This record gives sequence, C-alpha cells and structure tokens, in this order.
Amino acid sequence: MAESLETKPLTIPVRAAITAVHGYVPPDLLTNAELAVMVDTSDAWITERTGIKERHILKGEGLGTSHMAAEAVRGLLQKTGTKPEEVDLLICATTTPDMQFPSTANLICDMVGIRDIGSFDVQAACSGFLYSLSVASQFIANGTARKVVVVGADKMSSIIDYTDRATCVLFGDGAGCVLLEPSDSGYGIMDSIIRSDGAGMIHLHQKAGGSRMPASAETVANRLHYVHQEGAAVYKYAIARMAEVTGQIMARNNLRGDMIDWLVPHQANKRIIESTAERMGMPMDKVMVTIHKYGNVTNATIPLCLWDYEPQLKAGNRLLLAAFGGGFTWAGVYVTWAYDGAKAPKLNGKGKNGKI
Ligand code: ACO
Repeated sequence: MAESLETKPLTIPVRAAITAVHGYVPPDLLTNAELAVMVDTSDAWITERTGIKERHILKGEGLGTSHMAAEAVRGLLQKTGTKPEEVDLLICATTTPDMQFPSTANLICDMVGIRDIGSFDVQAACSGFLYSLSVASQFIANGTARKVVVVGADKMSSIIDYTDRATCVLFGDGAGCVLLEPSDSGYGIMDSIIRSDGAGMIHLHQKAGGSRMPASAETVANRLHYVHQEGAAVYKYAIARMAEVTGQIMARNNLRGDMIDWLVPHQANKRIIESTAERMGMPMDKVMVTIHKYGNVTNATIPLCLWDYEPQLKAGNRLLLAAFGGGFTWAGVYVTWAYDGAKAPKLNGKGKNGKI
C-alpha cells in the first residue's frame, strides 16, 4: 500500500557534518611564571582573572601561521585517509596571516599538496572559525563541494607586545581543523548565526600594518603593530553578545540548557566562559575548557577544544559553539555530532602537543 503523505518520512536535508577533527600546538611553552619575570604580573593574577596557566608559542625562523595549520591539516588527511586531491575547498580562519597576500589558505594547500581548488582566508578575529564553518556548510548543503577543510590557526605571539602585561598574558599559538562532508543522517551543522559591529574597533584592534596606516619606522617605534585591547570594555561586550547569540540559537531550535550535551565556547577568559554557561543553564562539566593550557589562540580555540574532547563526543551529541572577538564579531553554531569520537582513528600517539 502506498504511504500516505502524513506517514511518509520527510526527506532529511543534506547537511554538512563534521567527520573528523585534528590539531597542532607547537612544543614550546610560555608559563605564567616565565611571564612574571618579563612583566609586572603573577601566576595568581593571571590564573584568577583569566584561568590561563600556560600557552604554546611557535618558535623558529620563518615559521608562520601556515606552518601550524599545515601540520594540523596533514594530520587530518592522514587520520581520515583523505588524499589531497579529494579536497574540494579549504578555508582558513586567521587573524595572523603569514603575509597580506597571498592568503594563508593558499599557502597551506601548497604545503600539504592540495592543488587547483578554491581556498581563501576568513578574517573575523576570534569568531573567524565559526564564520568559516557557516560559509563552508553552505558549499556542502548546496552540493558544490563534498570535502571541505576548515582550519582555524593563529600565531598570536607575532602581534603581541611582551612588555604589555594587559595583553601578553592572554594569547597563545596553535591550529585546529575539521573535515566537513555531506550527510543525510540528520546530524551535522543544524544552524548558525554570524554577527558584527564595526563600532567595536576602537576597543580591540591592531593599529598599523594595513592600508590605513602602512608600516613605517615610526609605526614600529611606537609599537603600533601589536594588539591594542581595552580589556574591561571588551569583557562587557563579550559577556553580553555570547549570552545573546547562544540564547538566539537555543530559542530558534527549541533547545533548553539541559538538552545540550556540550557548550564549546571561544576561550578568551574563564570568567566569560562560566558566565555564558550559567546564563544558558549549563553545568561546567558540560563545557569544553582548554584555556588553562592553550590561552586564547583566537581562531584555533574552538577546533582545539573539539580535538581535545573528541574521545568524549558521541554520535548525536548536541553541541553549541559560540565565539566573540575583535570587530566586534560574534557567532553561534549548533552542531549535532556525527560520529563516536572514541572510535576515531589515532595517529600512533603522535599529533597531540607536538609534530605528527
Ligand atoms: N597582571 C597584573 N595586573 C594586571 C594585569 C596583569 N597581567 N593586566 C592588567 N592588570 C591590572 C590593570 O592594570 C588594572 O590595574 P588598576 O586597577 O591598578 O588600573 C587591574 O589589573 C584591572 O584591570 P582590568 O583590565 O579591569 O582587569 P580585568 O579583570 O578586566 O581583566 C582581561 C583583564 C583579562 C583582559 C579581561 O578584561 C578580559 O578577559 N577581557 C576580554 C578579552 C576578550 O574577550 N577578548 C576578545 C577576544 S580577543 C580577539 O578577538 C583577538
């Protein structure tokens, strides 16, 4: 008997599912104790005000963001058995590109042997990885790409003034990436919101080095190539916008805090993370936290969280990813996880906290 329209299952839309995750952090550490020798600060202040204990720093002549991103992407391809020629698109979210042009995405492709595909950078400060996921998922959903690599990577140490205690304690270096593929399992990227307000520029920016104020001996002497942040103002906006965007995603997907398995927040400050979780009604044991060991790695924080927590993730888990950063920018992405992380391929114990 033919199924009636009422009983026939609805066609499940093709969604972009995250099918693998990988990461890379450089081996050199910068601890709070070491920073306390460099500037007037203390382990107690940094731990209490930010939650950070240490961060990884990329050292080595001529190594930029692309180096860490390429390490992460190589591992991703290796662990999934993906050949470089199978990748259809690569997007790199970064605020510290190797150079103004070509894009860091172009350089990563060349380094890992991916040729003749579209690749580009997304610049949305700390929200860039979520902006990129949102863009990438649409290439998959509309059928124009089957395998998309999204990488978030930053060498924040290249734009940090290590004489400024207000910023130098916050940031670290690293890269994380995911593979997106089409899925009709019902799992994948369910919803996303990306937002910005350029009036926030005054509170968080890098003054020189762009077309408005090109690099000169004077800009270097005046230390204008470093992150300028008015911490307290940014903190206020970050708390408000993270709460707003998570609230919006939850409302329009009929989600309550107790229905979400994992909050995956951008890691800028432990207190912002705790406040966001509290407003969502989520206990901290359902919140991914890596800030103590990586600091704020800008575009890499969220994929590094997914990489670290991968063994705990199960197919069908509901994840809410949320970020806030310079611009101002903020974003939220609702994901249903597509695979059991405990069964994900391992790279012979390599790949975590070191080279693959
Ligand atoms: N060690 C000791 N004292 C310090 C340090 C330090 N490292 N840094 C600042 N202080 C002092 C200040 O000088 C100030 O002293 P004063 O009262 O004598 O003037 C005091 O501590 C308080 O300073 P605040 O800036 O008000 O400290 P706050 O508690 O706000 O913490 C922080 C500062 C950690 C930067 C916080 O404001 C924050 O996390 N802001 C948001 C960061 C963020 O979300 N950024 C967005 C993403 S980054 C991106 O997009 C690139």
